[in-house]
Amino acid sequence: MAGKARYYLTTPIYYVNDVPHIGHAYTTLACDVLARFKRLDGYEVKFLTGTDEHGQKVEKSAAVAGVTPQAFADRVSQNFRDLPALLNFTNDDFIRTTEPRHRAACQALWQVLVDKGHVYLGSYSGWYAVRDEAYYGEDELRDGPGGKKIAPTGAECEWVEEPSYFFRLSAFQQPLLEFYENNPGFVLPLGKRNEVVAFVKSGLRDLSISRTTFDWGIRVPGAEKHIMYVWLDALTNYLTAVGYPETGLGTPYAEFWPADLHMVGKDILRFHAIYWPAFLMAAELELPRRVFAHGWWTVEGQKMSKSLGNVIAPEAVVAKYGLDATRYFLMREVPFGNDGDFSQRAILNRINGDLANDYGNLVQRVLSMIAKNCGGVVPHPGPFNAADQKLLDAAHALLETARKELDGQAFHRMLDAVWGVVGAANRYVDEQGPWTLKKTDPPRMATVLYVLAETIRHLGILTQPVMPDASARILDQLVVPEDARAFTHLGPDHALTPGVKLPAPKGVFPRHIEEPKA
Ligand code: MSP
Repeated sequence: MAGKARYYLTTPIYYVNDVPHIGHAYTTLACDVLARFKRLDGYEVKFLTGTDEHGQKVEKSAAVAGVTPQAFADRVSQNFRDLPALLNFTNDDFIRTTEPRHRAACQALWQVLVDKGHVYLGSYSGWYAVRDEAYYGEDELRDGPGGKKIAPTGAECEWVEEPSYFFRLSAFQQPLLEFYENNPGFVLPLGKRNEVVAFVKSGLRDLSISRTTFDWGIRVPGAEKHIMYVWLDALTNYLTAVGYPETGLGTPYAEFWPADLHMVGKDILRFHAIYWPAFLMAAELELPRRVFAHGWWTVEGQKMSKSLGNVIAPEAVVAKYGLDATRYFLMREVPFGNDGDFSQRAILNRINGDLANDYGNLVQRVLSMIAKNCGGVVPHPGPFNAADQKLLDAAHALLETARKELDGQAFHRMLDAVWGVVGAANRYVDEQGPWTLKKTDPPRMATVLYVLAETIRHLGILTQPVMPDASARILDQLVVPEDARAFTHLGPDHALTPGVKLPAPKGVFPRHIEEPKA
């Protein structure tokens, strides 16, 4: 029997020098929506997230906190391990780079790079930004206050001089350019792809991949004074999670590698779209199919930062607005790939407009009319007229649109298409006027309400990836069995059965009333 199609997607692994904020939650949420979508669409999914626990930055933060780096990592990593329960994430694995399985994978990959002749010993002298865990060329820096050198990201750089192993990145300039050319969908959005291509065209220097001036990391096999560069360590997590270096038939590696998608923020695209494919080419491993770089959230127009005190904790947003409304807002508000602003006004507009007035009101009025006028059972429809069929056709066509949009990580456009049908259904209610039909033509009223209920079944199934709880409550109210909520159940073959008793309707999307300011 042929196996299910597989889909492997990953979030970046989060540094443990900070507590999770809404920006971190965003990356994982986008992956969660995709993972849920693919599962409902019949794929066997592997959805990976985790924490990046090594490096100088974590070592320094631990020292400031007065604890060992391991104790520090254990504590902060726990905050990220708590996120799935808070935000209803369905990751299949959570990797920590301090786990033995990861050390084994990194050391194995290192050895392969050495054996294939891509690593040499030299000495590094240049600029390093601990905040970014990245090297910068002199030409990229500007002068900051007190004679400090500042990276384009705003991070302070320090001068580093030490023995170091180098990876022959320069040898991969041409192969990378050919790869981008032959795989136009490898980096998305396209604007970001062009930046990557331009950067590679401008020339690649060999990359320092070990450090000797700090301790907190994975040791280089056979050269114990050297600690692996934290980005080589971190990127390898995507292989660790599929059991690398075991790559034989029947292993998770054989089943899931190459990854279908590495989701990343725009700030870490260079590592994923240049270094990572170069390492993989050097090790003669397959390259991931896509790296998508999403934008950054600001808060009420300002950069989120500890010093401004405007860092938004995911738990605060969920407590205030509810989980599904938060998930919906983050996926709908901003064209995925662009930067966005997290503002109270924007989120209230979405909750009160899209959710309460549009989707919620549709469900509420249709279910209450059925409860009141159809004896609380799925109505018995008569023949469908052109208007009925048009609405049903639009509902049936949604899956294809949703697939297409999500294959390009266009979450906002997928939701836009769903809301197109929400709007069409609301207009259909107004045009058909079931409350008038109740008096003039009850059988026609039954047909109209049936068409609407069936449309809502489609909407409920399709909004599950973004709003799992609210969608389940909608489908429960239509008595759609739990095993009939996958995408194979969309379309007329699994339409609602007339006569099925429905529970008393309950509102799903309340309006959000702001407390008056004291
Ligand atoms: N540890 C590295 C990733 C290694 S992956 C092999 C790292 N960690 S991070 O914790 O600093 O950032 C993780 C992700 O959070 C990045 O994708 C980053 O873009 C995202 N975000 C951090 N702040 C953000 C916003 N304000 N808005 C949106 N995403 C943001 O980088």
